[in-house]
Amino acid sequence: MEKFVFYGGKGGVGKTTVSSAYALTCARAGLRTLLVSTDPAHSTSDVFDQSFDDDPRRVEGDENLWVMEIDPEEEVDDHMQEIRRRMSDQVSAGIVNEIDRQIELAHRTPGAHEAALFDRFIEVMRDSDEYDRVVFDTSPTGGTLRLLSLPEFLGDWIDRLVQKRTKSIDLFEKAAIGEREARRKLESDPIVQHLKRRKEKFEFARETLRNDAAFFLVMNPDELSIRETDRAVESLREYGLEVDGLVVNGVTPDPDEDDRGRGGRYLRERVATERERIDHIREAFDQPVVAVIESRVEEVKGDLLADVAAELDVEVEREPPRA
Ligand SMILES: Nc1ncnc2c1ncn2[C@@H]1O[C@H](COP(=O)(O)OP(=O)(O)O)[C@@H](O)[C@H]1O
Ligand SMILES: [Mg+2]
Repeated sequence: MEKFVFYGGKGGVGKTTVSSAYALTCARAGLRTLLVSTDPAHSTSDVFDQSFDDDPRRVEGDENLWVMEIDPEEEVDDHMQEIRRRMSDQVSAGIVNEIDRQIELAHRTPGAHEAALFDRFIEVMRDSDEYDRVVFDTSPTGGTLRLLSLPEFLGDWIDRLVQKRTKSIDLFEKAAIGEREARRKLESDPIVQHLKRRKEKFEFARETLRNDAAFFLVMNPDELSIRETDRAVESLREYGLEVDGLVVNGVTPDPDEDDRGRGGRYLRERVATERERIDHIREAFDQPVVAVIESRVEEVKGDLLADVAAELDVEVEREPPRA
C-alpha cells in the first residue's frame, strides 16, 4: 500500500468511519499512522471520543495513531489573509479596499473551501516524514483536481513574466542605467518567487498523488451512490489517478431465519435488492470491492470501530513508491 491513502465519496456514505477503521488497522499493525479529517462536523472526535484540532494529537490507548482535524472554514480564512497580506505589500493603499472586497467575494465561491483544503493537504503530505501512513477521510474531486494542471499553467505564466521583465532589463542596460541592479531584482522578484513556489508545490502534489497515493471510494448500495461513484472514478481518471478499490458501506443485515413478521419481510426484500446492486457493482466497475460493511444499529465508535476494521480487506503493508 502507498503511503497516502484517500477515502472519497459523497457526504454521509461513511468516509470518516471507514478511514478511521483503516487508520486504526494500520496503527495496530505497527505503522505510525496519521488520520487527517476535514469534516466540519468533527466526526473523528466522535469516533474516538476525544477532541482534535489542527495539530496531530495521539489517540489515547493507541500509541501509533494520531489524528488531526482541519477546519475548512479556518483554512479559507487563513488562505485569504495570506493573499491579502501579499497583495497589500505590493499595491497602493487605495487598492487595498477593493482587494478586500474581492477577497470577501472569493471567500463565498463554492470552490474556495476545496481549494484551501487541498493546499493544506499538500502541506500535510510534505511534512509527513515522521509517519509511515497518512489516511485522509476525503479525496480531492473535480474542481480541486483541476488545480493539478496548475504547474503547466503557472509555468507558462512565469516564463512569459520572466521574458517580459528580462526584455525591460535589456532596455535598461542599453540605456546604461542600473544594469546589475535590474538583473538582481528580477531574480528576487517577489511575484516570480511566489509563482515559482506555487508551481513547485503543485508539481509535488501531482507527483505524490500519482506515485505514492491510493484512492478508495466509499459508497452505499443504492442507485444514486453507484452513479456518483462512477463519476468520481472518471473524474480522477481524467487526471491520471486510478481508484484502487470500492467500499460498500451501510449494507442491510439479514434478519433471523425464523423472523416471519413485517420487519423480517422488509429486511429480506431489502437484502435481496442490495445483493443485486452489489453484484452489479462488482461487474460494472474495474475496481475490486474491498469491503462490504453492514449497517450497525449504533454509530460506529469504540469497539464497533475495531469490528468494522476487521471487515476491511485493504492492504496495510507499505510498498516502496512507484518510480
Ligand atoms: N456501517 C455503519 N453502521 C452504522 N452506522 C454507520 C455505519 N457507517 C457510518 N455510520 C454512521 O453514519 C454517519 C455518517 O458516517 P460518516 O462516516 O461520518 O460519513 P461521511 O464521513 O462520509 O460523511 C455517522 O453517524 C456514522 O457513525
Ligand atoms: Mg466525514
